[in-house]
Amino acid sequence: MPEAEIQKDAAAAFDVPRHVAIIMDGNGRWAAARGLPRAEGHRRGVEALRRTIRAAGEIGIKIVTIFSFSAENWSRPASEIGELMGLLRWFVRNDLAELHKSNVRVRVIGERVSLEPDIARLLVEAEELTKNNDGLTLVVAFNYGARQEIVRAARGIAAAVKRGDLNLADVDMDSFAQFLDAPGIPDPDLIIRTSGEQRLSNFLLWQAAYSELVFVPTYWPDFDRAALEFAIREYQQRERRFGGLAAQTGS
Ligand code: FPP
Repeated sequence: MPEAEIQKDAAAAFDVPRHVAIIMDGNGRWAAARGLPRAEGHRRGVEALRRTIRAAGEIGIKIVTIFSFSAENWSRPASEIGELMGLLRWFVRNDLAELHKSNVRVRVIGERVSLEPDIARLLVEAEELTKNNDGLTLVVAFNYGARQEIVRAARGIAAAVKRGDLNLADVDMDSFAQFLDAPGIPDPDLIIRTSGEQRLSNFLLWQAAYSELVFVPTYWPDFDRAALEFAIREYQQRERRFGGLAAQTGS
């Protein structure tokens, strides 16, 4: 391989996306393919989540956002909603200490008001316990919908203008973003959706403006470090232009 190619390869190897967001899809299909209840797919999904957080930290990713319950998931049968709520309780109670020990900072995005009080408390507890950690940031999108988040931000900004805390003329993309659910978190570089579906499903619509999208066929319960590395390699092949022109080659 020519020296220039070797150098390009080495540089690409270090181009680790800072922020990876994941739509963890395919738990139900994974279970159906094995004649198992959908709940078993979700339980195995939690194991995939643990593996993925560990691998992301080892690879050097700084922020992982996971779509764990969408605002639209309330339309599922009550039994499945109960199962998903139970899994969140289990995940926080069982894994929070370990995440804290691993220096993970947990942040939560989504609408909290309509959540069961004990769940809302667990989410606050996770954020509070880990708020000073400076390792990987895990952003949990729970009861989250991107359009709902944008409406919340619009309300917040309108209220600030009405109070006189903000001039209408100062409302721009940066000030607007401060009213989103997790101000200060940079936009995702890479969004991965598992299970072969190719859409965003109301996930991070504002933040995804220039994210690279990678769709992998793997059902979420089978996702692992190799699948994550595959998606990162795909990301590394992309040329990110942010609306500008391609980088010049040669002189
Ligand atoms: C999509 O699979 C996945 C979900 C709706 C929930 C994702 C949840 C987990 C991975 C586990 C829970 C983790 C926490 C922290 C609560 P699907 O049910 O839509 O699968 P399908 O499209 O094959 O039916």
